[in-house]
Amino acid sequence: MNSLLQDAQMAARRVGLPSDTIVINGGRPLRGTIDVRGAKNLVTKAMVASLLGDTKSILRDVPDISDVHVVASLLEAHGVTISGSAETGILIFDPSNVASANSAEIDALSGSSRIPILFCGPLLHRLGHAFIPDLGGCRIGDRPIDFHLDALRKFGAVVDKLPSGIDISAPNGLHGAKIEFAYPSVGATEQVLLTAVRVKGTTELKNAAIEPEIMDLIAVLQKMGAIISVEPNRVILIEGVDSLKGYDHRALFDRNEAASWASAALATGGDITCKGAKQQDMMTFLNVFRKIGGAFDIEDDGIRFYHPGGDLKPVVIETDVHPGFMTDWQQPLIIALTQAIGTSIVHETVYEDRFGFTDALVEMGANIQVHKHGLEGGERRVPRRPLEQAAVITGPTKLHGSEIVVPDLRGGFSHLIAALTADGRSTVSNVGLIGRGYGDFVAKLEKLGADFSFEV
Ligand code: EPZ
Repeated sequence: MNSLLQDAQMAARRVGLPSDTIVINGGRPLRGTIDVRGAKNLVTKAMVASLLGDTKSILRDVPDISDVHVVASLLEAHGVTISGSAETGILIFDPSNVASANSAEIDALSGSSRIPILFCGPLLHRLGHAFIPDLGGCRIGDRPIDFHLDALRKFGAVVDKLPSGIDISAPNGLHGAKIEFAYPSVGATEQVLLTAVRVKGTTELKNAAIEPEIMDLIAVLQKMGAIISVEPNRVILIEGVDSLKGYDHRALFDRNEAASWASAALATGGDITCKGAKQQDMMTFLNVFRKIGGAFDIEDDGIRFYHPGGDLKPVVIETDVHPGFMTDWQQPLIIALTQAIGTSIVHETVYEDRFGFTDALVEMGANIQVHKHGLEGGERRVPRRPLEQAAVITGPTKLHGSEIVVPDLRGGFSHLIAALTADGRSTVSNVGLIGRGYGDFVAKLEKLGADFSFEV
């Protein structure tokens, strides 16, 4: 069995999907209200932070997604006792018996998520040693971890690369460091935060990522007793402390999930209210949504996204780090762009291979050309990166039903929207991968009036 299919089937089992294939009858607008819980890209990191506390931590608004189940299993493999459940949205972590994990248990989880790399700092502090299995996550290009390993070395760690994973120790303890990233990586910034909070001395991180999920992780760490200041120009200062306690935190909402359902509303000509979504963390998305012809109402406890009627308009977007247009937003929004009148361009500047999902859209009737080395010329906001690609989408094109194999999390959700927008019947397989990051997406589809069934 290929490993993508294996990952998808495991993810489907973790979140209790009846099967890994959905049959969708498209062409109906999605309408209704759904709850958006905590952000995958904060929740999984806050779970790791619980390892740093001397007492229990409580995390609220946890989504029921397979990445949460994977990180919970990894924490349990390291002796953390977890109560509560992702179904109810509250998890309680008791780290009083943290111990080295049995390598068979870690191996069983290896390849399922990229979060294990963030266990390095907390395990070094707790146990003086960490073993990190091969990393999984979405296949969207080369995803190096050089910034992570360089930073750990600067803190004084010894990193040994083995065929099965990475062995890290700190024979002489860990100390503060001066670190500057060549690019403001989200994961590597989290690596520095989760390590620097307990080292001896102060750490200065330059060119840090400042995504809202990072700010929320800093809020979690501050509740635990950390001293972290965010300075102008992407500089973060962290003063190491001797001990940290547990936290009680309600996770920031998932802005990727909200943007995905918003895109589904626009593409299907529907109307979706995302309870829990907040304007402040979505401003860049909202501007683009409005330019395309989408409408939104900011409500006290959420955002209503809808197609107000009329034609959709093309846009030019460059994905970027915060506060730019997120790379995770482009895949779902491209389905709406296939319905706009004219030519849109999406420059992907964060990952090196994030348009693979458009092949399936072309088979469904979309007019999309991918330029694997980007487009030269034209006015740009984001400096050109060597790895970038561009997609040129010319609409409007009618989409028709097709057989689709989901390649990754965001591309997969985009395929789901395409199938819901298309005329006729589509079979979408590997949907377990969507369960990695979209909590209760099946129940939400039902609530929004989608016509679908599982192939069993
Ligand atoms: C996080 O990935 C998210 N994942 C991604 O979400 C998100 O797309 C990304 O941040 C950007 O916002 C999680 O939070 C689990 P990066 P991460 O390190 O941390 C280069 C989703 O669908 N780089 O900011 O892995 C890298 O190659 C996922 O939810 C290095 O060169 O992203 C890329 O070009 C997909 N060396 C760029 O930085 C390194 O050591 C951004 O990666 C690390 C990164």
